[in-house]
Amino acid sequence: MSALFQPFTLKDITLRNRIAVPPMCQYMAADGKANDWHLSHYATLARGGAGLVIVEATAVSPEGRITPGCTGIWNDDLAQAFGPVVKAIKAAGSVPGIQIGHAGRKASSNRPWEGDDHIAEGDARGWNTIAPSAIAFGAGLPKTPRAMSLDDIARVRQDFVDAALRAREIGFEWLELHFAHGYLGQSFFSAHSNQRDDIYGGSVENRARFLLETLKAVREVWPESLPLTVRFGVIEYDGRDEATLLESIGLVRGFKAAGLDMLSVSVGFSIPGAAIPWGTPFLAPIAERIRREAGIPVSSAWGFGTPAIAEQAVKDGQLDLVMVGRSHLANPHWPYAAAKELGVERPSWTLPAQYAHWLERY
Ligand SMILES: Cc1cc2nc3c(=O)[nH]c(=O)nc-3n(C[C@H](O)[C@H](O)[C@H](O)COP(=O)(O)O)c2cc1C
Repeated sequence: MSALFQPFTLKDITLRNRIAVPPMCQYMAADGKANDWHLSHYATLARGGAGLVIVEATAVSPEGRITPGCTGIWNDDLAQAFGPVVKAIKAAGSVPGIQIGHAGRKASSNRPWEGDDHIAEGDARGWNTIAPSAIAFGAGLPKTPRAMSLDDIARVRQDFVDAALRAREIGFEWLELHFAHGYLGQSFFSAHSNQRDDIYGGSVENRARFLLETLKAVREVWPESLPLTVRFGVIEYDGRDEATLLESIGLVRGFKAAGLDMLSVSVGFSIPGAAIPWGTPFLAPIAERIRREAGIPVSSAWGFGTPAIAEQAVKDGQLDLVMVGRSHLANPHWPYAAAKELGVERPSWTLPAQYAHWLERY
């Protein structure tokens, strides 16, 4: 009996298996608007059989985009553009999710294959960035952000709320707040990027405030019956990992008390050159610890794209849901291939009958 191919229920939503496509930016939007590429891409992934498909980091305001090609949901027109994407994911039997976020000091960047660095000063494609403190990330992201005023903080919090409302309106059934990867939420929590001396900086309680306030405000408008998750970098690999993990576990307990349904465990990416142990599913034991110590369902990514590894992570109780990213780009029918490899019989949930009939019968 495969653990990976057991259904998973969170709130009123049941996924057909434990495989999720994590948010992956496509950098293919113009002025934030999803288009035919997004429809084709997400429809293909959903048809591949994953239980959940989470649409890429979608900005809550224009300045919150990572690159000029990132999707946005800061007005109704942009939200409408996701309508066909939502319908296509559902038609394929998957659950449509979306990650909403604000890139903070990492915004105004070039697409990864065009440099992955800040758009040069003076280039009309770029824009001014904001962050908790006027501290640049460094390396390829040298632009110094403007430190946010209290009004800025209130505005961005409201932008998240408005984005959540639009996401619900257009039919998304799973909402993820992007508080990871050195973007705005993460940069409030990390002392590397937050050196404020008001109620949003300093102590761990203060550094957690923006994230908790935003989550609470979103929970008020996002239906209780639908999953609300956060992607959060619980560790930085900066040499003080146990201390960071303890702070993170405290915050995740706070998230849970504020109505969080599941945590997507990731890395902080708050400093250049962190000593990340790539190559193995390095977050598996950390996710298991968060799951146990914070008492909340968890998902994670980075290195789970081998069927046996994904299966083991669920079987061992490390993950409730396995995020399989790049392996899905290589093979959108990854769930079908995984089922075959794991010896799961007639994986009808990974392959619709109109395909399976021809592939399995003759
Ligand atoms: C093309 C690409 C775009 C990504 N965009 C996002 C994103 O929008 N939001 C996010 O939280 N992570 C993003 N990530 C990270 C993935 O969600 C995932 O964590 C990563 O690919 C590791 O999982 P994997 O080893 O299965 O690929 C992206 C990764 C890739 C490859």
